[in-house]
Amino acid sequence: MQRNALPHQKIVYVCLNERENGACCAAKGSAAIHAALKEAVKARGLNRQVRVSRSGCMDRCGRGVNVLVFPDGIWYSEVSEGDIDTILEEVLKDIA
Ligand code: FES
Repeated sequence: MQRNALPHQKIVYVCLNERENGACCAAKGSAAIHAALKEAVKARGLNRQVRVSRSGCMDRCGRGVNVLVFPDGIWYSEVSEGDIDTILEEVLKDIA
């Protein structure tokens, strides 16, 4: 085992979990939100500072799409594509 410093200043986790009954973030468009956040970070040249990553279920399926920002400790729920700019602004405001 190796013990390392975090490789990114922030990690934005987007739940992409999919359930057969449709009660999940995937059914509410989380893949598109994940892709848009990832592309926006890349377009700003901030891939080394901010990682946009997929997550499994965060146990808040009824409030999806769920997005968690580490290490900020911020949890966005009921996220839609219209919220992407707001999330980006908040996530990136203190990135060096
Ligand atoms: S499916 Fe996203 S929190 Fe459960």
